[in-house]
Amino acid sequence: MKKIIIAIDGFSSCGKSTLAKALAKALNYGFVDSGAMYRAVTLYLLEHKISIQDLRGVEKALASIQIRFQAGAKGNRTYLNGQDVEDKIRTMEVSEKVSPVAAIPIVRRAMVRQQQEMGAEKGIVMDGRDIGTVVFPEAELKIFVTAAPAVRAQRRFLELQRKGHTVAIEEVRKNLEERDHIDSTRADSPLRQAEDALVLDNTKLTPDQQLQVALDWANERMEAQVL
Ligand code: CDP
Repeated sequence: MKKIIIAIDGFSSCGKSTLAKALAKALNYGFVDSGAMYRAVTLYLLEHKISIQDLRGVEKALASIQIRFQAGAKGNRTYLNGQDVEDKIRTMEVSEKVSPVAAIPIVRRAMVRQQQEMGAEKGIVMDGRDIGTVVFPEAELKIFVTAAPAVRAQRRFLELQRKGHTVAIEEVRKNLEERDHIDSTRADSPLRQAEDALVLDNTKLTPDQQLQVALDWANERMEAQVL
């Protein structure tokens, strides 16, 4: 069967990555968490004390940043300049800074170029905010994931707790709200539902149930390619 591109977008912590990962596994496709790339850039800027007002500094930083993904025993890991930063990029410190970084056009340009290269051969599931609108506007399947805000905050809170982070649910909720606001109101590639995206509200669905819905859609789209 012909390979397709599956673009998954949606608000913060709505289960996009969980769905994208499961879908990629079921289809034997590649998986790219584009948010991890913006998080890795943010980590680099924080560690090198580069302010986002210093656009020349940001530009220089982008030239020395190399991001790659590697699947291992501990799942998909994000590498920044050869170092496994998967745990570091998921901290609240990075979550609090990532949206302003992702709103910078030169940052977006650099990330989008790499994302498009990763999908050049198709057979990929990518999740983010602008995948169906900007990165792959021609994607054969676009899914826009939504979930009730309280459910999203609760899921992220439990995820952070499981990883051993001490954080108040109120802090998580505020961060999601803030990121959603910045992400959907920024001038460059704001988060929005592509006109041809299918909406998947997973508020009341288990991960397996949401996977089944998406798999049915993917199979339909893949079959349509053969005809
Ligand atoms: O916390 P969650 O998993 O929902 O977010 P993420 O996918 O890790 O993305 C972190 C942040 O990166 C978002 O809040 C956006 O500011 C930015 N992002 C973006 O601008 N464009 C993308 N394609 C993906 C993420």
